[in-house]
Amino acid sequence: MSFEDQVVLITGAGSGMGRLAAQRLCAAGARVAGADVNEEGLRETGRDRERFRAFPLDVTDERAVARTVAEVEQELGPIDRVMNAAAIMPTGLLMDQDAGLVNRIMDINYCGTVNVTMAALPAMLARGRGDLVNFASIAGWLPALHFGAYNASKFAVVAFTEVLYHENRNRGVRFACVCPPPVATPLLDQAKSQPKVLEDLPPIAPEKVLDAIESHLDRGKLMVFPDRVAKLSYHMRRFLPGLMWAGGHRTEGI
Ligand SMILES: NC(=O)c1ccc[n+]([C@@H]2O[C@H](COP(=O)([O-])OP(=O)(O)OC[C@H]3O[C@@H](n4cnc5c(N)ncnc54)[C@H](O)[C@@H]3O)[C@@H](O)[C@H]2O)c1
Repeated sequence: MSFEDQVVLITGAGSGMGRLAAQRLCAAGARVAGADVNEEGLRETGRDRERFRAFPLDVTDERAVARTVAEVEQELGPIDRVMNAAAIMPTGLLMDQDAGLVNRIMDINYCGTVNVTMAALPAMLARGRGDLVNFASIAGWLPALHFGAYNASKFAVVAFTEVLYHENRNRGVRFACVCPPPVATPLLDQAKSQPKVLEDLPPIAPEKVLDAIESHLDRGKLMVFPDRVAKLSYHMRRFLPGLMWAGGHRTEGI
């Protein structure tokens, strides 16, 4: 796969899937702008990669996001692909979390995605080409005990991306809404309340998710369910919600 001289902006590039995507795309010839609050993480991502440029950024800061997008376009050129991967996932029963934390999760996971999309997408639409890849989660379809705040933020990402796609299809830009089950990245370490459901679902490899994104983009498929667990969970939620909740209560003992 060649991305020779394509310009890619990736948020959350200092860790996990954002980092892996950045490194893979650099290896495929792209010039990658990696944005993250974690500057040390960005340095690690870009180590010995001259095609990588670090842009320290808090995606919740709308003005800083607009400035960064403008800087990326000025320094690297028109953006061909945006990957919104920045997120946090502190778990916990909703009544054990304060409003500030619940709002913060929404701010980063959903509003951050909105900020970056609003800053970068108009120019891609005007050029009639580009890829917008928004990381949601299977948690954007399937609500679960301990994940309420994260669920709400990812449901929002799914709705936003789905409507955005339908409002702009046939305008040359490709869209992907990525809905993985648990993936082996540092994000899972944030599940401090130790939901038992994570013990039942061994994480898949981040490579599998990134491969699925490319194949779905190539086939023009919006929703990226990278494996059978994700697809099955989606169907459970749609057709057997009572069974889904019964399983959740049994698993967590609540
Ligand atoms: N790992 C999983 O199990 C899993 C499953 C489904 C979906 N996802 C989603 O995939 C995406 C990538 O997750 P990951 O697993 O690679 O996570 P990760 O924790 O490894 O990386 C997330 C990155 O986002 C950055 N970040 C956090 N807040 C930020 C902010 N305000 N501004 C800029 N950067 C910020 C972090 O510093 C970190 O480098 C996320 O959207 C996540 O919700 C992950």
